[in-house]
Amino acid sequence: MNKKYVAPPYRIKMVEPIKMTTREERIKYLAEAGYNPFSLRSEDVYIDLLTDSGTGAMSHYQWGALMQGDEAYAGSRSFYRFEQSVQEITGYKFVIPAHQGRGAEQVMMPQLIKKPGQVMISNMHFDTTRAHVEIAGGRCLDVVIKECFDTDTYHPFKGNFDLEKLEELINQTKVENIAGIILTITNNSAGGQPVSIENMRAVKKIADRYGIRVIIDGARYAENAFFIKEREKGYENKSIPEIILETFTYADALLMSAKKDGISNIGGVIAIKDDYELYNSCRTTVVPLEGFPTYGGLTGRDLEALAVGLKEALDEDYLRHRIDQVRYLGDRLRDAGVPIQYPVGGHAVFVDCKKIVPHIPYHQFPAQAVCNEVYLEAGVRPVEIGSFLLGRDPDTHKNLESPLELMRLTIPRRTYTYAHLDVVADAVIAVYEKRESLVGLDFEYEPPVLRHFTARLKPIK
Ligand code: F0G
Repeated sequence: MNKKYVAPPYRIKMVEPIKMTTREERIKYLAEAGYNPFSLRSEDVYIDLLTDSGTGAMSHYQWGALMQGDEAYAGSRSFYRFEQSVQEITGYKFVIPAHQGRGAEQVMMPQLIKKPGQVMISNMHFDTTRAHVEIAGGRCLDVVIKECFDTDTYHPFKGNFDLEKLEELINQTKVENIAGIILTITNNSAGGQPVSIENMRAVKKIADRYGIRVIIDGARYAENAFFIKEREKGYENKSIPEIILETFTYADALLMSAKKDGISNIGGVIAIKDDYELYNSCRTTVVPLEGFPTYGGLTGRDLEALAVGLKEALDEDYLRHRIDQVRYLGDRLRDAGVPIQYPVGGHAVFVDCKKIVPHIPYHQFPAQAVCNEVYLEAGVRPVEIGSFLLGRDPDTHKNLESPLELMRLTIPRRTYTYAHLDVVADAVIAVYEKRESLVGLDFEYEPPVLRHFTARLKPIK
């Protein structure tokens, strides 16, 4: 008999009550929030699927470790525990903590981008990574495989680099104008899609041939390793730590938001394989930006929680259940005909809203309209990844059109049950069934930068 789901390898020791609200209340809350779920109070949200970043549940080992935090400004015992975990997982020599992923990016990018206009190439840059490349004077180019944009069609590794395009780009740009290659695993912006070992090995080979550095943006490297074990030939019998160690041989450094696969509420990692010069320049830069190199903006307590959490994320039973929760939600939606990025990735289900509300044009933010309706339906908070997030062309000031209009239903780690996911699925399906009645949105207030966080919108009547 086929089991419907993979039971969790943990039990619940502490609970956080969440509020159930009525539709009338939610109508009021959403209007007060300017039809932008970012402005909702979290207590008015029943199931919060805005992000998997820093929102997971820590284990009792992590809470126990927290009590052992050494809060020394320099040389903290907790740093050395954290350093040891990162070294064991990555095989890299040098480790510097940062307060979160973008902190790590802000420290490393200026060390990589040596002159204005240098190019960083990635399968797909995450928003903050892109921002820090650009702040450091660089430019970003993405060379993900084309299958990634075809949400209907199965491909086991939709996060892969298009190797031909990569090499073409290197030749066009000229090596001296390339600052590095960023391997984003999993590829968040395209649906938490994995990258295969074969692809990473090939990227590294190309990079070595041209003498280009490879950096892993590894917020979700453990989830990526699970997909490799599940889908890549020759890796079925390898352990997750073995696959991760191999993964890191295909890069020279790691930048990580440890709020994801570190299963902690805050934290970031810079790890460098063996390049002392790069390490030394990061160590110098981290001081004014994040803090002394043994705390990097974190408390000793945070470092302790991370030292344990980073290891827990490698547990195969945990990963199987984690990925299965996302798969379960994806399957329920697909069974009801809701178009999603298929197969689902590691941390979220991405719903293809262009196909749900084709009558809403991109400049009226179709995915945002669907997100809002899902909140009204059941108090579930998704997040828009589409034209609302993308913003305007800096020159023409026109709204940019995103290639995909997505609603991301992001699953926090060890936090919700399959019953919660049923509530989410029922809500999305109910919205899907009345999709023709949904209307677009217009600005009431539009901030000049990163508008999606604080904009106020109104439905177009
Ligand atoms: N890289 C990737 C692939 C990410 O997904 C994120 C964050 C970062 C870097 C930046 O890390 O938030 O710790 O500063 N992603 C979150 C998300 C915010 O919701 O997907 P951070």
